[in-house]
Amino acid sequence: MGLRLSPWGTENVVEYKRLFKYFGIKPFSEVLKELSRITEPHMLMRRGVVFGHRDFDKVITALKRNEKFSILTGIMPSGRMHFGHKMVIDQVIYYQQLGAEIFIVIADAEAYAVRKLDRGEIVNLAINDYLANYLALGLSTRNLHVYFQTNYERDYYRLIQLFSRKVTMSELKAIYGEELDPGKLIAVLTQMADILHPQLESFGGFNTVLVPVGPDQDPHLRLARDVADRFSSELGLKRPASTYHKFLMGLDGGKMSSSRPESFIALTEPLESAGSKIMKSLTGGRPTAEEQRKMGGVPEKCPVFEMLTYHLVQSDEELERIYWDCKSGRMLCGECKLMAREKLLRFLEEHQEKLGRARGVASSIANIPGF
Ligand code: TRP
Ligand code: SF4
Repeated sequence: MGLRLSPWGTENVVEYKRLFKYFGIKPFSEVLKELSRITEPHMLMRRGVVFGHRDFDKVITALKRNEKFSILTGIMPSGRMHFGHKMVIDQVIYYQQLGAEIFIVIADAEAYAVRKLDRGEIVNLAINDYLANYLALGLSTRNLHVYFQTNYERDYYRLIQLFSRKVTMSELKAIYGEELDPGKLIAVLTQMADILHPQLESFGGFNTVLVPVGPDQDPHLRLARDVADRFSSELGLKRPASTYHKFLMGLDGGKMSSSRPESFIALTEPLESAGSKIMKSLTGGRPTAEEQRKMGGVPEKCPVFEMLTYHLVQSDEELERIYWDCKSGRMLCGECKLMAREKLLRFLEEHQEKLGRARGVASSIANIPGF
């Protein structure tokens, strides 16, 4: 099951269609069927949350031929990890279970030079929050490489230096805006090395590298594809594959963001505060109960329904039932939120129990910068 177009998967894709038209991102629905011939697609893929890709065919080919492939993903430790950050790691864990080698870069150089974050805080958040949460969510330490941008292997830095010759200022400005400075410039070249280095022999020589990201990172991926082309004969680099997932709506209706506490629920959120945040969430409900019974709610515009779709309901049948209970007006928002709260608290309680041990593991696997 899962391949028929789900009622919840279609609506918001409309907003993302622009990306197909203007940037050449392909709809993920095109490769879903092929993937399902090999293995069960991830819940986020079935539900249209993962909506786009570039060159995902390469991953399918690798899976079919039983060839090794790798996943590269980045941690930007600005603010606590929340549910809006969880979709990436859910996909990474899925690929790891399919046999992929996992590279996780902690973007500490970018966080320091571009976002102006404090170095101690960067290390602390990356290890004790993000990485610990990743492990508690089920990321295994097998086939896993975690590194800090400021503390990695020589060949990685050589890439940054070589890449500088074949990247233009106008490309960099297209990514970071007109006000380029040395920090941003180095951050872009560093991200190119992040994305492309698993292809080098010294890092495993992976022909297929997939980078799952939110659409905001696509400019980097377009540049990485161009850089790969420009270094194809010199270094044998190939274009990376990428997938794009929708952002999770914040509980206040905007994008879920660590800068607005009422918009997000952290994975380390105390249960009491998590419960009260979801009960206060905006919904797709009508102004009065009477209207809602008559017209039904609008789950497509509801942050609570998004939490259920992206994170809290594993069964497609159950999600579909909730969708129609809302749509038909059979269920009102109060009842729905109580149900969502119950699921959220059960999830968080179980997750947070694993965090203590995960923190210990997290601090032992990453090579923390010396100063
Ligand atoms: N620029 C990314 C961000 O702002 C962080 C990042 C660095 C990254 N290197 C990466 C993301 C490689 C994906 C792949 O979040
Ligand atoms: Fe959202 Fe649930 Fe209300 Fe529907 S019933 S609008 S899904 S909170």
